[in-house]
Amino acid sequence: MKTVTAGDVKLQVRDEGSGTTILFVHGFPLSHAMWRGQLPTLNSLFRVIAPDLRGFGGSPLAEDAGDDPKTTMRQLADDCAALLDALQIREPIVFCGLSMGGYVAWQFAKHYPERLKGLVLCDTKAAADSPEARETRLKMAEHVKKHGTGAVAEAMMPKLFGQATHKDTPEIVADIRRTIEQTCRRGLAAAQRGMAEREDVHDFLPQIKVPTLVIVGREDAISPVDEMRAIADAIPGAKFHVVEQAGHMAPLEQPGDVNTLIADFVGGLQ
Ligand code: MLT
Repeated sequence: MKTVTAGDVKLQVRDEGSGTTILFVHGFPLSHAMWRGQLPTLNSLFRVIAPDLRGFGGSPLAEDAGDDPKTTMRQLADDCAALLDALQIREPIVFCGLSMGGYVAWQFAKHYPERLKGLVLCDTKAAADSPEARETRLKMAEHVKKHGTGAVAEAMMPKLFGQATHKDTPEIVADIRRTIEQTCRRGLAAAQRGMAEREDVHDFLPQIKVPTLVIVGREDAISPVDEMRAIADAIPGAKFHVVEQAGHMAPLEQPGDVNTLIADFVGGLQ
């Protein structure tokens, strides 16, 4: 890991390999470590970069973030662009985001199209939150501020994994629970506030011009298969794959299958 100054934050970043750059952007409330099944394999084929986003893992919020910070998806996309600048990466990259990382991918694609060579969207959504979901997020942000991250772990854990993962690799489940519990409470609350106000991007999907790969775990309870298929159908030429024996954390649950999909996709780009 290295520390990279990106705009007003210092990000912890894993940066390995050479060739086409894939920027791996994690979900909520996780860290770069959720890509542990991808980085050690794909780094022999590509340059793989995986930051802890501001407020997550080892990356703090900005010093002047205040008592009730908010981290918007646009801010996180700007951080990604600043990170690429800091690493002097000028050539277009492949942006691979999972769930919240996908919300960041939409903003990156919208505001930095010239920096994009391809998109990999894992287990994510194009819709904005319903008013009820927004309300729940804002309440959760207040709860976390006062009582810590335990309730977020409780709420999320049943929805993250497929049945096979719970049965065959409980250590992965335990590890993710630990990550959520250890996430900085201000960082977590800030991202909840930011996700609550994220926009619906359905109208943007047909405008995406780069090759796109859409991946979803068969048992994803947060971003269901049909919703992900509709996203792929709306993006011109997008490829769509369902990963068996996986839930919302498909890359972590079935790294072999997901690595093959990503390696074939990125390897096939001009
Ligand atoms: C994630 O995995 O990043 C979350 O499910 C995103 C969200 O809370 O909408």
